[in-house]
Amino acid sequence: MLTLFDANGHKKVCFHDLTSGHMFQANQHVVVHANEALVLDPGGHKVHTKLFAEISAVVSMSQVKHLFFSHQDPDIIAAANAWLMMTDAKGYLSSLWMRFITHFGIDELVVSRLVAIPDEGGTITVGGQPLELIPAHFLHSPGNFHVYDPVSKILYTGDLGASLGPDTIQVTDFDAHIPHMEGFHRRYMAGNRALRAWAERARKLDIETIAPQHGAMMAGKPLVERFISWAENLSCGTDILFAPGVPS
Ligand SMILES: [Fe+2]
Ligand SMILES: [Fe+2]
Repeated sequence: MLTLFDANGHKKVCFHDLTSGHMFQANQHVVVHANEALVLDPGGHKVHTKLFAEISAVVSMSQVKHLFFSHQDPDIIAAANAWLMMTDAKGYLSSLWMRFITHFGIDELVVSRLVAIPDEGGTITVGGQPLELIPAHFLHSPGNFHVYDPVSKILYTGDLGASLGPDTIQVTDFDAHIPHMEGFHRRYMAGNRALRAWAERARKLDIETIAPQHGAMMAGKPLVERFISWAENLSCGTDILFAPGVPS
């Protein structure tokens, strides 16, 4: 567990070591403001069991009032029903995935606490503090959001910025880090046009840290800018798969 921000009644904590075995390493973030908490991309069942036990070091479960699901993948929503059953939190998810999340066994008792996020985004207000839901569609999911915390100035980017391999929490050398991100982004991200739209949005935010769901985060404005500019210039997804000369 790593505390990323703690000042003026606002706290942001990252759990980075709850995945194990064959699972793709994943980070779970918890934002606490005043008397409420938000869990970002809480993950699947094994992570749920561990996070449920460990979260009490940060906040009591009865204060978890919000669950954010950046998109529909199992490493994000597989345990959505358990979280909804064991809290009285609302679960926020792209409107595109509302009819699919119920296939993970969302109980009739809690389904009314799912909140559809419209394509244009919105806010989640945690203990009176609004956090912004930033559209990041097709990066990689067609219905996908990031969360900007204007207090800590941390942009949580879900799968965007994910890295595989290095056993580190913070990126120090961006050039050395690129090979750990590149393969994943070139295959999973839908295309450069989506990255450019995201970069334009990201540049309008005052970001101190890019915090992805997988792997290391990028802290400090120079690293944030390096990442945004790397992303906006990346060819990926359909740019590559359907490029002239590439067999389909
Ligand atoms: Fe994903
Ligand atoms: Fe993921």
